[in-house]
Amino acid sequence: MSYPDFVAFIGQRNTPPGSLSTLESWVAGSAITATSRVLDVACSTGFSSRVATLATGCRARGFDVSWRAVREARREARLARVSSRLDYFVGDVTKIALRSHQFTHALAGCCFGFFSDRERALDEVVRVIVPGGYLCTANFYMTGKPSRTLLREVEREVGFAPKPAGWERWRVLFERKLALEGIEHRQLPVLSDEQLVETVRASVLAGCRRRRVPVALHEACVDRMTCTRRVLNRMRAHQAHSIEIWRSPS
Ligand SMILES: C[S@@+](CC[C@H](N)C(=O)[O-])C[C@H]1O[C@@H](n2cnc3c(N)ncnc32)[C@H](O)[C@@H]1O
Repeated sequence: MSYPDFVAFIGQRNTPPGSLSTLESWVAGSAITATSRVLDVACSTGFSSRVATLATGCRARGFDVSWRAVREARREARLARVSSRLDYFVGDVTKIALRSHQFTHALAGCCFGFFSDRERALDEVVRVIVPGGYLCTANFYMTGKPSRTLLREVEREVGFAPKPAGWERWRVLFERKLALEGIEHRQLPVLSDEQLVETVRASVLAGCRRRRVPVALHEACVDRMTCTRRVLNRMRAHQAHSIEIWRSPS
């Protein structure tokens, strides 16, 4: 099972780097309000659109290639009692099955690093937002030099190899189409192994219970997620993340 499918299977809430505080920066920095029409790009389990809708009352649609993630996003929207304002579908960012210029905002938390054809993905996202619309992103970048072994381990765990490149690569990509309106840079804390084991165990078991994953699988799920998070935690020493607000030409 792929990492995105696994995350959805065990009821974990995938979030953009910086989680709620990133959403706060996006909402304030790009003026998302009740009248905004928001697209959640590669939404995973729908955290960004759900939080934006709960905070502002906006309408949002989200899509992801993982059907398990989309099913989970729908379920979470129902649980949060906002499913009348949220809609999720299975789709590929390189051919978004939507007409042009219909969203005032697109939210793209940590997903451009996952796309194999980033230029095409950006063209598509820009196509579906209105002229003068916003793209809110949060992207990891390297501040140090992780070993090749560590990069390979990350690829094995989450299915993509982070590029050993600084923030500049994101500027070059997004400036092809958009102007930078605001940026913050943040560092995620490196957890002690004790903290990591404790938090992963608690959140995986809570998710497994919520999703009624058979009890016989609980320990295997904890082991897999602990293994993945250990590798990602080691990467944190070499990474920071940005929170960006981009705007398309009017
Ligand atoms: C790290 S998650 C980002 C989740 C979410 N945007 C967030 O900030 O929490 C990356 C997501 O990209 C999705 N993905 C990868 N390639 C995709 C593609 N070509 N089209 C749509 N989604 C894709 C994966 O299924 C995964 O759910």
